[in-house]
Amino acid sequence: MSENIINRAVEILRQNDLGDYTVPTHGLYPFQWNWDSCLTALGQSQFDEGRAWREIETLFAHQWDDGMVPHIIFHKEDDGYFPGPEIWATGRPVPTSGITQPPVAGFSVARLAARAKNKALAEEKARLLLPKIQAWHEWFYRCRDPEGTGLVAIIHPWESGRDNSIDWDEAFKRVPTEGVLPFVRRDTQHANPDHRPTQAQYERYVWLVQRFRSLGWDNDKLHDASPFQLVDPGFNGILLRSCNDLADLAEQLGENAIAAASRARVESGVAALEQLWDEGLGQYRCFDRVAGAAVDSASVAGLLAAFAPIPQPRKAAIARRISELANRTRYLVPSHDPADPRFDGLRYWRGPIWLIVNFMIADGLRQGGLSDLAEQIDQSSLDLIGKAGFAEYYDPMTAEPCGGATFTWTAAMVIEILVGLGMEQK
Ligand code: GLC
Repeated sequence: MSENIINRAVEILRQNDLGDYTVPTHGLYPFQWNWDSCLTALGQSQFDEGRAWREIETLFAHQWDDGMVPHIIFHKEDDGYFPGPEIWATGRPVPTSGITQPPVAGFSVARLAARAKNKALAEEKARLLLPKIQAWHEWFYRCRDPEGTGLVAIIHPWESGRDNSIDWDEAFKRVPTEGVLPFVRRDTQHANPDHRPTQAQYERYVWLVQRFRSLGWDNDKLHDASPFQLVDPGFNGILLRSCNDLADLAEQLGENAIAAASRARVESGVAALEQLWDEGLGQYRCFDRVAGAAVDSASVAGLLAAFAPIPQPRKAAIARRISELANRTRYLVPSHDPADPRFDGLRYWRGPIWLIVNFMIADGLRQGGLSDLAEQIDQSSLDLIGKAGFAEYYDPMTAEPCGGATFTWTAAMVIEILVGLGMEQK
């Protein structure tokens, strides 16, 4: 049974493989996406390590001079996606978007290196990638934490990777729509519109892009100029985990300066994350930097922070919170608490389950000694696959497959769970 699933997952990765990068799924997402590639490489490495390294190398070949790694690389033309390169107008030789995505590369590269069968190749690739990842991390702290709080902000919901989360609703009221040029959405031609963000949200996404474009994509200006500055505990958790794992890797490679700088970031970031903790809820919450207030929203971002090297009691509290959610849904982990009236089990990041998020939460819980719940989450991921195939995301109550089909990172996570965590026997 699991062998069939692995074979099917490998087949999907191959179908979506364009040689040096993998598209998330044909049609809906025809380019390279940042955190998709880094997580996909984990699955690829289980059957082809060289290909996995190439996936991440290709991404970093398009890093900006200031250190940012863009969220989309438009390797070739395709008018099936909006907004395309002409809307971003970032002026790059190979066009890219002008914003970033959750920095999971440090984690992925460290993991690929740690379990590599081809040690020589791993060392060569890790040595090349290490300073680039470090430059990206430093970019975050320089450009997205200008006041040195220890936590970085995102300036566009697309940066979070959780595009239409309930977390952004209040802040989005501040984002205007005046001056947004007319556009035709392409996503709703590939996927069910009820599973996608609304038109009102799209107008605001585009307004922010136009605003940043008018500032010449100058990252010294964008943070302060954005009416949307959100501190996301999941995003910061991923960054801190990457800093932590990059420090381990740097130490092994004798790159002591990178190791020391990364450790210092982890120390101040983990301490600063405490400000986002909500004791009543038993999880972290987002913070709206413009409003100067915590966001009233119990989303999965506050659970995803378990991926970071946070104190064990925090992980244990998050585990209790997830067990509580398990009483309200059939499958784990919903992207939003179903007790919230704003929850929507079908609409993208407002309720559905995403396997990459499950994987990262389970990994963080395991590191905190909470392996029973981690296994329960893995099992939920596998049950969803068994029931509904390799979808982009799933309804946590009914397992209905949502969004795009034959989805790359979903397939990669299944390989990672079944092979990487040695569950083939089950
Ligand atoms: C959607 C998701 C984002 C992902 C992208 C490609 O925009 O919200 O997280 O990276 O699709 O799969």
